[in-house]
Formats: sequence, C-alpha cells, structure tokens
Amino acid sequence: MCGIVGYIGHREAYPIVINGLRRLEYRGYDSAGIALYDGKNIQLSKTKGKVADLEKRADSEISKKGSLGIGHTRWATHGVPNDVNSHPHYSNSGNLVIIHNGIIENYSSIKTELINRGYTFKSDTDTEVLVNLIEEVKKKQDVKLGKAVQIALNEVVGAYAIAVFDKNKPDEIVVAKLGSPLAIGVGDDEFFIASDASPFIEFTNNAIYLEDEEMAIIRRGRDIKIRQIKSDKLVKPFVQELKLNIEQIEKGGYDHFMLKEIYEQPSVIKDTYRGRLLADKGIIKLGGLEEYIPKFINADRIIIVACGTSWHAGLVAEYIFEDLARIPVEVEYASEFRYRNPIITENDVVIAISQSGETADTLAAIKLAKEKGAFVYGICNVVGSTISRETHSGTYTHAGPEIGVASTKAFTTQITVLTMIALKLAQVKGTISKSDYMMHLRELDMIPTHVAAALKSNDKIEEIAAVFKNATNFLYLGRGYNFPVALEGALKLKEISYIHAEGYPAAEMKHGPIALIDEHMPVVVIAINSNHYGKVVSNIEEIKARKGKIIAVVTEGDTVVRELADYVMEVPKTPESLTPLVTTIPLQLLSYHIAVMLNKNVDQPRNLAKSVTVE
Ligand code: G6P
Repeated sequence: MCGIVGYIGHREAYPIVINGLRRLEYRGYDSAGIALYDGKNIQLSKTKGKVADLEKRADSEISKKGSLGIGHTRWATHGVPNDVNSHPHYSNSGNLVIIHNGIIENYSSIKTELINRGYTFKSDTDTEVLVNLIEEVKKKQDVKLGKAVQIALNEVVGAYAIAVFDKNKPDEIVVAKLGSPLAIGVGDDEFFIASDASPFIEFTNNAIYLEDEEMAIIRRGRDIKIRQIKSDKLVKPFVQELKLNIEQIEKGGYDHFMLKEIYEQPSVIKDTYRGRLLADKGIIKLGGLEEYIPKFINADRIIIVACGTSWHAGLVAEYIFEDLARIPVEVEYASEFRYRNPIITENDVVIAISQSGETADTLAAIKLAKEKGAFVYGICNVVGSTISRETHSGTYTHAGPEIGVASTKAFTTQITVLTMIALKLAQVKGTISKSDYMMHLRELDMIPTHVAAALKSNDKIEEIAAVFKNATNFLYLGRGYNFPVALEGALKLKEISYIHAEGYPAAEMKHGPIALIDEHMPVVVIAINSNHYGKVVSNIEEIKARKGKIIAVVTEGDTVVRELADYVMEVPKTPESLTPLVTTIPLQLLSYHIAVMLNKNVDQPRNLAKSVTVE
C-alpha cells in the first residue's frame, strides 16, 4: 500500500511523477504529495485526497520546475489522512525529503530518542521519524546521504520502500527496500523509481527490481550503485526487459478499470493457458510444475495460503484438487496460518496464491512454511514480485496488470492455473479416466467462449442492479464448487458498493441466515445444473416461502429455477468443476453496476488498497 514514484534525469520531473502517481493510485489514495528540486530549492506540495486534488493544489503552491522529483500516494498506517501526515516529509533542517511505503515498527522509541536530542515533529507518521533519524546519523557521523540511510535502516524494524534526496546534493536519489516493492526504470541518462513499472513504461522497458535489504544510490546522468544494507556488499545491477505495454495500464474506452478487467477475462484466461494447455493433444505442461510433480502427488496434503479474493480461488482449488487429484487440501487465511503455530512438515506442499505477489501476510506464511521445510509453490500475477521470488517454484497467471481494487480477472486466471495443476496431477496419479481428462481439457479450452457468452447478459444484469441497488443487505448462496463463488460475489458487492453482503453454503442457510429473510432481502443463488441442483431448488423454495427475492444464476436453457426466481442471470453449460469460471461473471457485473448506480468510486473503494503490504 502507498505508491512511490521518483525521477532524476533531463526531463521535467513534475508530469512524470504526477502521471506515475495516477497509475499507482490503486495502491492507496487517501492523500498525495510531490517534492521537486528546482535548481535551488525544494518545491513541495501535498494534500489529503487524491492525485487530482494534489494537482489543483500544486497549481498555486509550487513552480513545478525541476528534473528531480519524488511523489507519493498514501494509504494511511500511522496517523489519519490529512495534509500534514501526507508524504513527502522533510527532515528538521529542511534539507532532506523522503517518501515511504511501509511501516517502521519501532518508530516510537526512535522518536523519543530524537525528541530528547531536540528534534521536533509535525506529523504523526513513522516516516517523519525515519527522515530525521537519517539526518541525525548524517550529522553525527559526518557521512554522505547514502551511508546515513544505510546506518539508519540498520536501526529500524519494519518494512519500507523509500526514496530520499538531499537539497545540498541534488544529483542523487537514495532508495531502499525491505518488504515493499521498488522498481528502478533505466533510461538513457535518466532513471525512474516506482512501486511497480507502470509509471515509467512509456519511457523505458528496462527495469531493476531491488531485492529485500538492498539500497541504491541513483546518480543523475551516471550510474546506479546497489548495496546490501546489512553486509554493505556491492550488488551487480540486474536489468530486466519488461513485457508490459502502455495499453494494458489504460482504461481503453471503458468507464472503469474494473469493467475493462471484467471484459478482458475471455482473453486473459486464454493467455493464461496458451502454450500450457493443448486440448486436442491431451497435454498440460506447466514449466514450473513438471519437475515437482512427484512432490505434489506424494504430499501428505496441500496447504493453500492466500488473502481476500485469492483465498476464494484457493477454496475453489480445494474442491478441484480433492475431487480430481484426490489429494487432501487445506485452505488457510495467510494471516491466521502464520500466527497459529501450524503443523507443517517436509511432506506438505504449500501453494501461495497472490495477484500482486506482495501481500505481507501471504509472504510471512511462505517464510514460515519454508522454515518448516515445506515445498512452496507460488501462483502470482505480477512478474518478478516478491512472492514469485520467495517461492521454490510456481506459475504465473497472465492476467496483465489488474488496476481496479476489486479483483476480477486475477480470480478467474488463478482458478485457470489451479485447474490445470489439478488436472495434470490427476492424470499423472491416475485418479481421472482418460476420457474425463480429455473432456476437461476440451471444456477448459472452451471457457473463454463461455465467459464471453456470460458477458452478453450485461444489459440484463444492469436492469437487475437497478431494481436492487437500494437494498441494505444481500445474501449469496452456492453449493459445492460454487460456495466459494458465493463468498466472492458477496465480497465484490461489499468492496465497491458498501452494501452488507454475506456468502453462505446454500444448505447452511437454515442454520442461521434464513432468519434474515423477508421481502426486503435479495438472495443471489447460484443454481446451475449440477449434482446439487435439486437441493438448491429446495433452498430457493424455502426462501420464496419467506418472501425473499431470488436472483438466480442458472445454466442456459434452465426452466425450473427460471419459474421460481424473480430474476435470472444465465451462464453457458460447462462441467461442474469448471463452473466457478463462468458463474462468477454475472456476480462481478451485478456488483459493478450497483456500485456505479450508487455513485461509488468503483476502482478505488474507500479504505481499501490493491496491494496490502502491511500485516
Ligand atoms: C487486497 C485486495 C484484494 C486482494 C487481496 C489479496 O485486499 O483489495 O482484491 O484479493 O488484497 O491480494 P493478493 O495480491 O495477495 O492477491
């Protein structure tokens, strides 16, 4: 959370930093700020609110001149979102200025010590403590900025991606990373700094991703010196060529990133299995998996760790792994798993699922599993992300950048990867018949077409959204493979429309939620043709008997539920194990339209952030 951007080179820094902040707003958007060196002084402007508010403020506050600049978009951790707590932060002398993504956990004791030495603080942030600690080290030990940053960081506990510069040495920016991501774009005589590559992709395809506990001194028109913060060892910069392009990070005619990302699903699901699934030949080949297949099939169990929507993808995987590959699976919230002294052995395989590859709790769960000797497999979307590097092996989803805070295409591409893994293991283990295996491969290959067909109900779903937009509660019910989809549907609605919604296994309804049902309660029921169809129909009858309103997701051609439900949303027929990939589509659209009708900020819902790098 929080996005950081920086530039040092021969161009005007202001537009680069502002544009970069706009692209990183998904990481946090409660305040924003910028600091430029104009050749003489630091020009600093910051405000509570969004990057657009910062631009307005900067118009009257600063000259916007200068070819060195840093900027920040915030998701508050220490201190409420207000102008003063916004970044950048000055040191007491006014010479140093810093931006920071992360948390300094021991800031309070450092602050007390600095206060005893005469330092004063304007904000409630841990970041202002850090910049003053750097200043104190620099003064006391009479060292250059880079050294001072290194010494100071050796004293702090926590997570950070920082960029700092000194007014008296305006030809360099010092950056450092631990726990929060930091990419350096390498151009011709110019360098870019950002939390991900999106702010600089139109300028350069070459990037260096700092590793944890590394820092870099970036010098205008010269070079980058990377060091390990603890050992002081110099590290040879490893420049990667990025595959990202500018179209992928723009809205491309859609009103919101979320809608664009929902509509991208047919193509990104295909991108995710392209070259890996050869349906006609009966081949599934996942580079990261091949060598480790014996580990998976001989494992006592698979433990899946994840957070949020990725956790829901893990729940879907539990059904498919157990059903097809007959391997016991446990799905854990990473945040719970890591703190409950879990039993993990060398015979366990841990799968970590994360769109961003940066979620702090998932990362901590991975570290714990590795310490206990488990083999850890990652499923990430962001190439080069921390989780993708920390895991022993893994598979990338190829969803492209997901910018809407509410996750959509990441979910379906994660399920696509997990399904391919389950099918591959089932085939090798012999727990699936040849014909069933071939049928699944062919059907998986059809999913993009089915998703495109499900998207055609958009207008109808918009009409349903208009009917229920003022409801204050929603219940989502599903069974088997579609129970996690019910959870995900409810989460989508909560996240972007702020309507209370609960997902429940349909059969459990009578053990509690049925008490909530009256004529004001819309109940979204996933009632596709499956093993549980008859039972779900009975659940619908029970809801109708209590005057609840039924919005049902049904298989094309369904007649029974169509008769009973108040509204239906159709999806194409596919084997039950693949249905989450299609039933989730109408639920995404329903929550999207309700949020739009309620005038909510769909892409940047309040209090949330795309990438949660705090624990
Ligand atoms: C945040 C996001 C969710 C996401 C979750 C896990 O809460 O808002 O959309 O599902 O983090 O993120 P990850 O990047 O690990 O999948």
